[in-house]
Amino acid sequence: MKTVGIASAVVFTLEFLSSFTEAQHDGSQLSPIARRHQHRHRSNLGKRDGQCAFPGNDGLVSVTPGSSNAGWAMSPDQQCTPNSWCPYACPSGQLSMQWDPNATTYSYPQSQYGGLHCDSDGSISKPFSDKPYCQNGTGAVTAKNNAGGNVAFCQTVLPGNEAMLIPTDVTSETTLAVPDQTYWAGTSAHYYINPPGVSTDDGCVWGSTANPYGNWAPYVAGANTDSNGITYVKLGWNPIYLEQTTPFRNDKPKFTAEIQCDGDGCDGLPCAIDLDNGVNACKGPGCNTGAGGANACTVAAHKGVKAHIVINSA
Ligand SMILES: *[C@@H]1O[C@H](CO)[C@@H](O)[C@H](O)[C@H]1NC(C)=O
Ligand SMILES: *[C@@H]1O[C@H](CO)[C@@H](O)[C@H](O)[C@H]1NC(C)=O
Repeated sequence: MKTVGIASAVVFTLEFLSSFTEAQHDGSQLSPIARRHQHRHRSNLGKRDGQCAFPGNDGLVSVTPGSSNAGWAMSPDQQCTPNSWCPYACPSGQLSMQWDPNATTYSYPQSQYGGLHCDSDGSISKPFSDKPYCQNGTGAVTAKNNAGGNVAFCQTVLPGNEAMLIPTDVTSETTLAVPDQTYWAGTSAHYYINPPGVSTDDGCVWGSTANPYGNWAPYVAGANTDSNGITYVKLGWNPIYLEQTTPFRNDKPKFTAEIQCDGDGCDGLPCAIDLDNGVNACKGPGCNTGAGGANACTVAAHKGVKAHIVINSA
């Protein structure tokens, strides 16, 4: 059992890290795909100004509705234009069940083809008509806020541009959206954890080196549930927080994060951010150094066990 767990954890870790590496390079805000489509269609605007309108009445979560993305889970300056895929955000705890059926592996540009298809005439089509827009994840992981106020957990859009645009506002305890192995290309969910008091409006956008939130949030987490029902939860430092060009890279965050589990149902505890030992310190047997020199630990929660990513003030 243990061997299976460790092997899966390695696979998970590789996928998780490659995903964060991709996200680091998304600073342009507008993907090459979107740029290409904008040029192609500028002189050929269909209905609704050459964009596909966000389906506001279907229980989806609108992302920066006042910007060019107009609610879609795309960068604020990116439009949902004809002949492209437009990802959307689901309510907390739920995952999008729609993506390009032809995009089956984690590779570029297929990794961007999430959500609904914006057809050439400016209408939307739903790729999997037999599936809902959103569905509960496995429910195996919650985010728990002991720091007061709110904590913005911001999930990356995958398939999509992998920016951290999907908001989960945690005031006490909220279930995170955790995929099982049937999710797109078997990928896991990735979250940026913002300092307490930063709203999801401020935290779940790209941001800048001016503030330790958004893409520069101190901590990141990831989770997925495998085909045996084991859930891997990873918690660690955001490599971007540690970069030479990040002005606050030596500042200790004023909050901590750790993984706790119900009963003794997890392997790999403790797994925590270790502020006593400074920036980039990690506490526990599962601590490892990954992409960008960032330290992180991974825990395996047995089938049916809930893990909690717990935030405390430091
Ligand atoms: C998937 O690929 C096939 C064959 O290339 C194509 O005909 C079809 O339109 C594609 N489907 C989508 C949803 O893009
Ligand atoms: C989805 O999860 C929520 C709790 O997070 C639960 O209340 C609801 O019943 C679940 N829905 C389905 C269809 O399982």
